[in-house]
Amino acid sequence: MADVAEKLDPEVLPEYIPSAVLDGEAREEAVRMMLRLAEHVRNKTTDQADANWQEPVENYADEELFRVEVETLFKRIPLPLALSCELPEKNSYKAIEVVGVPVVLTRDAKGEVHAMLNVCRHRGALICGEGTGTSRALTCPYHAWSYGMDGELRGIYGESTFGDFDKSERNLIQLPVVEAAGLIFVCLTPGLEIDIESWLGDFTPVLEALKLDELHLFSSRMMPGPNWKVVIEGYLEGYHFASLHPNTVFKTNLSNTAIFDGFGAHERVAFALRNLEGHMNGGAEVETLDPSANVGAIIWLFPGMAFAGAWRERMTCSLVLPTTSVGASMTEQRVFTRQPVTDENREDLEVFRDFFYDVTYGEDYITGYGVQKGVANVGGTTQIYGRNEPGVQYLHQTINRLMAENHRDGDPEPRRA
Ligand code: FES
Ligand SMILES: [Fe+2]
Repeated sequence: MADVAEKLDPEVLPEYIPSAVLDGEAREEAVRMMLRLAEHVRNKTTDQADANWQEPVENYADEELFRVEVETLFKRIPLPLALSCELPEKNSYKAIEVVGVPVVLTRDAKGEVHAMLNVCRHRGALICGEGTGTSRALTCPYHAWSYGMDGELRGIYGESTFGDFDKSERNLIQLPVVEAAGLIFVCLTPGLEIDIESWLGDFTPVLEALKLDELHLFSSRMMPGPNWKVVIEGYLEGYHFASLHPNTVFKTNLSNTAIFDGFGAHERVAFALRNLEGHMNGGAEVETLDPSANVGAIIWLFPGMAFAGAWRERMTCSLVLPTTSVGASMTEQRVFTRQPVTDENREDLEVFRDFFYDVTYGEDYITGYGVQKGVANVGGTTQIYGRNEPGVQYLHQTINRLMAENHRDGDPEPRRA
């Protein structure tokens, strides 16, 4: 942790650059959020849940329960595996591994989006390396079988020597996919239907206010972390800002001063920025201020996508996904900008990207690894979440609800406190 603070000169903390993206009802809602936060700043309060909540530590450490989470949650619900702007062109792709499942997303020559298992139908090799790119075909590196961007088997190297078989049976295996609100949602189980309207529900306008379609991808990095729930909790409360981030996040955000709203499985947590407190001390009328420069909003899509810096010129998006083991997750951490990247803004964006990465990894994730070690050594006890951590409570209540809805005979259920 010392490393991050030492590396950062507080004078060069990234600035919040507001954007003109907020308009109409979205702006009115953002102003209401800002007014709620101002009330908390004035009264030194924060949004609170009705009571404390507890979860047995086994829910972070039990391998068998983790396997059920993967099967009943991650393999059944729509996962936002990419933003539409990550596949901006025809003939582009993105390959990513999700809970051990290799997936490739494509936009074909007609602009249509597909999601497929990234597994060759000859002898199972992985076709695309992880990351994004453009290509007119997906060609397997092992024996050069080649598939169209829609997954159809097109070319077989040495076909006359291979022998006859039904090629139409050997297309890539398709996964259900839907593009909505600037995101590409994939279900990891072939044949399941995605009902995106009901999955997003009243969260749709919150997402649409971000205007994700207008973003440009600046950078993407993979970042390992501990258990997915340990990691995600850190995005959903600002109770830890003063203690864990004294020289970084706490320089710009107030600690323990937040509002919370749940939307089905999804949620929004917003923190009061020091800018807001400064304007209030200067006697400003709060409703005249720009919400994007005074509110630090996290827009969070279940099970693990966090947008930070909502509505601003620069935004970050972290996609937290479990791997194949209970104690390990992988975060795809991306920086987006509303203006195209140019030689003029590139350097600032690099500083912003590195700051975000260093704080998240060096402060939050390193602490999370400690939590993971901690919970493994206090079996039979519980974690307790305060009334001032409503976002974290909501996460666990949502997981428990969805696990119960998808419960299969014989599966263990989450432990109850
Ligand atoms: S495994 Fe892909 S071409 Fe052989
Ligand atoms: Fe943090």
